[in-house]
Amino acid sequence: MQQLRRNRRLRTNDAIRSLVRENTITPQDFLVPLFVVEGKGVKEEISSMPGYYRYSLDLLKKEAKELWIMGLKSVLLFVKVPDDLKDNKGTEALNKNGLMQRAVKTVKEVVPDMLVMTDVALDPYSPYGHDGIVEDGAIVNDKSCEVLAQMSLSHAQAGADFVAPSDMMDGRILAIRELLEKENFKNTGIMSYSAKYASAFYGPFRDALDSAPVDMVNVPNNKKTYQMDFANRDEAIKETLMDIEEGADIVMVKPGLAYLDLVRDVRDNVDVPVAVYQVSGEYAMLKAAAEKGWLDHDAVMLEQIMAFKRAGAHIIASYFAKDVVKLLD
Ligand code: PBG
Repeated sequence: MQQLRRNRRLRTNDAIRSLVRENTITPQDFLVPLFVVEGKGVKEEISSMPGYYRYSLDLLKKEAKELWIMGLKSVLLFVKVPDDLKDNKGTEALNKNGLMQRAVKTVKEVVPDMLVMTDVALDPYSPYGHDGIVEDGAIVNDKSCEVLAQMSLSHAQAGADFVAPSDMMDGRILAIRELLEKENFKNTGIMSYSAKYASAFYGPFRDALDSAPVDMVNVPNNKKTYQMDFANRDEAIKETLMDIEEGADIVMVKPGLAYLDLVRDVRDNVDVPVAVYQVSGEYAMLKAAAEKGWLDHDAVMLEQIMAFKRAGAHIIASYFAKDVVKLLD
């Protein structure tokens, strides 16, 4: 048969390629993670995340304004808690005047329309580095959910638009939703880390917040009893559908690049927006390879971000957000 269909016709030049392109990247795709520390005038580079910083509140203002001007309208806040404020119950997490609560107010003060999401989990507040309360060598579920709900309420009271529970306790979305409703925070949203895997890709993040699980007698040195086993695929759907039933407004798959199959599975199975988190280890890998001159940083970065879009993500949490937007200009 004579060749009638030639797919290369649609790839002849840039104009036709952009005309038929199925996905695009825009600043609106991004959620920008921000690390906050105590102090004044602090902008510290995270050693395992070159080009990424922890900011004190005064410099957080500047950063938030800069993001807004670039068209980056959503942030996800994380705090590094001083050691002397850490305890097993996460008491400091509920402090009305704690760093997270002040960080929320600070961002809202300088950019009132910025969408502010907060991380909800106990690990930065725990001397053990666990997302929940540790008792008798285990991370207890229901008690942890109670604290996570109180923590969410405290963030909502400080002005957070969304809380983002990243802890993977069973039933925490329901506990949070019920408390928010009861306290009349009906419009505070929940972005659930619903399919979050026990992953070694979180290493640099744990450096950033000094939040790694400790090596101690009677404390698990990993998060495998609550974060998911990376061998599992069907389980991601179960976790995600349960979170939606419990009241999650947005669901998330994490990590990103090595878990694109899950992004597509989840997208095909839910009717809420799907987020993906391109985590710290993914950022570190590309920075390291680019530093060595082994990969073209910008080209690989765009290819990876497009992969998230193609896989079906509506929202991309990424440390590359600013780099990408600068390139788009
Ligand atoms: C803590 C939390 C983690 C990340 C986001 N929230 C680390 C962990 O679960 O140990 C990882 C983010 C990243 O690696 O970029 N609940």
